[in-house]
Amino acid sequence: MTADVYQGATAESIRHHYDVSDDFFALWLDPDLTYTCALWDEGDTLESAQKRKLDHLIEGARAAGARRVLDVGCGWGSLLERLVRTHGVQRAVGLTLSDNQARHLRGLALERTEVRVENWLDHEPAEQYDAIISIGAFEHFARTGLSRAERVAAYRAFFERCRAWLPKGGRIALQTNVKGNNVRMDKQTVRDLQFIIDTIFPESEIPALSEVLESSEKRFDVVRLRNDPDHYSRTCQEWFDRLRAHRDQAVEVAGEKTVADYERYLSSTVGHFRNRHLGLSRIVLEAV
Ligand SMILES: C[S@@+](CC[C@H](N)C(=O)[O-])C[C@H]1O[C@@H](n2cnc3c(N)ncnc32)[C@H](O)[C@@H]1O
Repeated sequence: MTADVYQGATAESIRHHYDVSDDFFALWLDPDLTYTCALWDEGDTLESAQKRKLDHLIEGARAAGARRVLDVGCGWGSLLERLVRTHGVQRAVGLTLSDNQARHLRGLALERTEVRVENWLDHEPAEQYDAIISIGAFEHFARTGLSRAERVAAYRAFFERCRAWLPKGGRIALQTNVKGNNVRMDKQTVRDLQFIIDTIFPESEIPALSEVLESSEKRFDVVRLRNDPDHYSRTCQEWFDRLRAHRDQAVEVAGEKTVADYERYLSSTVGHFRNRHLGLSRIVLEAV
C-alpha cells in the first residue's frame, strides 16, 4: 500500500489508541463497549442511548433482516452483535485495525459473524453486501496535515470501494465527527484539540462535512443527514463521569498519565461539541 493511495492513520497509530487495554475502556464505556456518540432520548441511560443509536443506523442502512452487512471499524462489536442477535442479519462482517478488539470479539463467539483485522482498503469480499454501516471510523481515514484535496481523495477512495461492494440502491449509514467550521476557536480550544491529535488520536484528522459529501458525489445520493453535537457532548460527559467514578481502578490498569490524558481529552471534548467546534454527523447515503 502506498502513501499516495491510502492517506489514513496507520495501523500502528490506531493500536496506540484502541489497544491501551480492554479493561481500561470497560471501566467507563457501556457494557457492550460502544465507543462512539449515542443517540439520546428522554429517560435514556447510556446503555439505552447506545442501542438507540445502533438501531437508528441499522434502520437507515436498511440492514435489518439483510443477508450480508459490512461494519467498517467495528470496535468491540456492539453493532455486529445487534445485527445478528436482534435484527436477524444472516452474515455480518466487521473490520478493525485493533488486535485487542478482534481478540475480544472472537471471544464473544457471535454467530454468523466474521471479524477481520483488515484495512477497508485491503478488503476484497467474495460477494457484494446489502448494506454498510460505519460508526466513528471515518475520522481515521485521512492523516493529520493533508490538504483538503488530499483528504477528499482519500475519502473518495473509501466511497469508491463501498460503491463497488453495494448494489444500486444499497445504503451506507455513516456516523462521523466533523469539524465545526462555523465558530471561531479560542486559544485554549486550539491547544486542547492539538493535545488530542498529538496524544490521544495520533495521525487522525476530523473531516469537514463538505468533504464527506464532496467525496461521495457521483457514487451516492444523500438520503438523510442530521447533526447531533449535543448528543456527543452528553456522551462524553457520561464517559468522563464514569472514568472519574472508577479512577483508582483505571490508574491500576492504565497508569496515572493515561488516566490524566483521558480526563483532559474527555472533559475538553464535552465543551468542543457544546461550543460547536465539533459536529456529529449521521448520514445515510444511497448508491446511484
Ligand atoms: C472509535 S472506534 C468505533 C468502533 C465502533 N464502530 C463503535 O461504535 O464502538 C473506530 C474503529 O475504526 C477502526 N478503524 C480505523 N481505521 C480503520 C481502517 N482504515 N480500516 C478498518 N478499520 C478502521 C478502528 O480499529 C476502530 O475499531
